[in-house]
Amino acid sequence: MLSNREVCRPKQMKMSQVENLQYLRGFGSEFSSEDPRCPGALPKGQNSPQKCPYGLYAEQLSGSAFTAPRSDNRRTWLYRIRPSVGHKLYGQFPKGNVVHDWTECEPNPNQMRWKPFDLPSYGESVDFVEGLNTVCGAGDPKLKVGLAIHIYSCNVPMKNRGFYNADGDFLIVPQVGTLKITTEFGRLEIQPNEIVVIQQGMRFNVNVTGPSRGYILEIFGRHFVLPDLGPIGANGLANPRDFLTPVAWYEDRDEIYEIVSKYQGKLFVCEQDHSPFDVVAWHGNYVPYKYNLENFMVINSVSFDHCDPSIFTVLSCQSDQKGTAIADFVIFPPRWSVQEHTFRPPYYHRNCMSEFMGLILGQYEAKRDGFNPGGATLHSIMTPHGPDVKCFEQASNEELVPFRVADGTQAFMFESCLGLAVTKWGAKVCQKLDPDYFKCWQGLKKHFKEPEFV
Ligand SMILES: [Fe+2]
Repeated sequence: MLSNREVCRPKQMKMSQVENLQYLRGFGSEFSSEDPRCPGALPKGQNSPQKCPYGLYAEQLSGSAFTAPRSDNRRTWLYRIRPSVGHKLYGQFPKGNVVHDWTECEPNPNQMRWKPFDLPSYGESVDFVEGLNTVCGAGDPKLKVGLAIHIYSCNVPMKNRGFYNADGDFLIVPQVGTLKITTEFGRLEIQPNEIVVIQQGMRFNVNVTGPSRGYILEIFGRHFVLPDLGPIGANGLANPRDFLTPVAWYEDRDEIYEIVSKYQGKLFVCEQDHSPFDVVAWHGNYVPYKYNLENFMVINSVSFDHCDPSIFTVLSCQSDQKGTAIADFVIFPPRWSVQEHTFRPPYYHRNCMSEFMGLILGQYEAKRDGFNPGGATLHSIMTPHGPDVKCFEQASNEELVPFRVADGTQAFMFESCLGLAVTKWGAKVCQKLDPDYFKCWQGLKKHFKEPEFV
């Protein structure tokens, strides 16, 4: 467990961009934070005093069952100007495009590749919530098992609108544009090549200054953890100290605010007469956090053969089956390639897992053409895939000296043990599905030569 009081600035950000935002370091830690405008706002020695300091209300946000084992128990106490219950009735959110109906389309085992998803067109005003569309998914938030993969595409701030997901956690992967995110816990800013996890129930607002696009992995009813490291040891891959949680920040604004809720796969909205971002102080271990993918410590083969991609797992959401993930978030970061007598790109394979890939920047090493930043691929359970013809021919014949791979690029994968179903939006409405994807493997030549005397 790391110090919960260590305050830092992320090294990759310029001060002019971050408005002096500060963060707490650590993963799964017990944190506590007070907005410096109200010193002593956290009650001393108890969670729910008869009267809280400064006349605040105490409210607990539970991210696990009260009785979950201590190692899995997640909760935070919020000390706020008004409790979050002070809102009017929910009604349907008219601009919601989120879908959890996995029977919209017939099953399709083909390899799928999407061209870059559209940014809002000129003259359109779309905020983060309005610009959410579901590509594929599986399971049911009512049963707390499953996931959904969404694309967001927006170009204006959410203004007086807060959003929370009652169904699960969002892992957000920006690809275009910086997101300035205000949460009940404080403010974060993330840029492409960083990720942010906003967990079930946490209210947040996204501010953008121009066209913005990215990917979202949503998991139902469970939370992300760091993968076990086994023989790697105590350090490596994503180190806990590089995860950053915001410090408490509040606004006391008596204005009409919309609260949008994603509940059982649909969006609802209600009004309240004040900002939901009125938490003056908080303590607990159920928090939003961000992570810069540049900080990932890459482990790989230094002798021969290509390691399985699990070696690049940043975060994992485990199923009840040992070592099997509802969802892994895996990246393919810049690194050295040094293996001897080895076909170095990813090997051809068929997998009992579903693999959804996206590209944040650059070119993916196994497919130079057709898979572009802002696009995606889906290789479903047991559907064969691997390097395209060009990549195979090149990698089979190149001189195996040490060289850098993936510099200036960042591809990632959402891998799941569940069978993912594509929505109508993903299959048709977005109009980005590339019908020619399968052709990239059609020219694979036969190199087999029988021995002369058999
Ligand atoms: Fe694969």
